[in-house]
Amino acid sequence: MKRNMMLMGLWAREGEKTPQELEREFLLRLEEIPSSGDIYLLSEIKKGRRVDFVGAEVKSYDPLPRGMEVWYLTGKFDKDEENHDTMLKNLQSGEVLYRVQEQGDNRHLKKLLWKDDQPSGPIFERRSVRHYRQRAVEEEKIELLLRAAMQAPSAKNQQPWEIIVLENRKIMKELALGLDYGKMLDHAPLCFIMLGNMDNLKSPLRWPQDLAAATQNVLLEATEIGLGSVWVSLYPDEQRMGHVREVMDVEESLIPFNIIALGYPQEFPAPVDRFDRSKVHRIKE
Ligand SMILES: Cc1cc2nc3c(=O)[nH]c(=O)nc-3n(C[C@H](O)[C@H](O)[C@H](O)COP(=O)(O)O)c2cc1C
Repeated sequence: MKRNMMLMGLWAREGEKTPQELEREFLLRLEEIPSSGDIYLLSEIKKGRRVDFVGAEVKSYDPLPRGMEVWYLTGKFDKDEENHDTMLKNLQSGEVLYRVQEQGDNRHLKKLLWKDDQPSGPIFERRSVRHYRQRAVEEEKIELLLRAAMQAPSAKNQQPWEIIVLENRKIMKELALGLDYGKMLDHAPLCFIMLGNMDNLKSPLRWPQDLAAATQNVLLEATEIGLGSVWVSLYPDEQRMGHVREVMDVEESLIPFNIIALGYPQEFPAPVDRFDRSKVHRIKE
């Protein structure tokens, strides 16, 4: 049976990326594929350890019937081999590890690829992303992030947030200029400026906690929908808040809390396990 081949261009030299980073990268790229095709994730066993990479360039965007297959393979592969047919032959001799019927069901694939002993989901997978691709974030995704922000808990349910959605390159570059820890804003395609509204606060001292909860919601939802994000701190640093006030001409009753840089990731930091049992203090009867 002739298959439509779709080979994707993710490469890593030995030791450059962990298998887990490549798997994540692969999964995120998978979400971008407009139609479908067979996708091969390759792994090469070299000197007893796995070196992973995913195919070559996208070769075909031929539409396939719904329910495309995703194969996850290991196989021997000659890195210098440019010929796609030889590559395919090598691939087919590979061992099929996973085969997932529905491309739409990426989470299923994710689960298969995730290490057994590692909790999965956006909380455990989120990392700060500081390099972004020059690809616009879809309107629906922006909307989801805004909804996620405002779903946060807040003291006395005061919901003190205001959010500036900024996609203006010139202004973002200006913001980056005055923020030593916000340099990624000079190329990120999008950011949210999170502000606290001081009017009518029911629990005046707790607005920063409310804003922090809203921010975390955005970071987690971004992870869930394949976007990268990073929290760029403003409050309580007078210089940083002042810079944003000046650039954005923020009105007096609003306090710039932080900036969340957002976009499709150009880097894929691997999840880290920060669990430390010594910080748990359990009390039982
Ligand atoms: C309150 C707060 C302020 C932060 N400020 C910045 C910042 O200004 N610039 C930045 O690049 N990252 C900032 N971060 C991101 C942290 O550096 C990052 O979360 C931390 O190193 C852990 O890495 P991870 O997010 O990849 O898990 C901030 C995070 C928090 C929670």
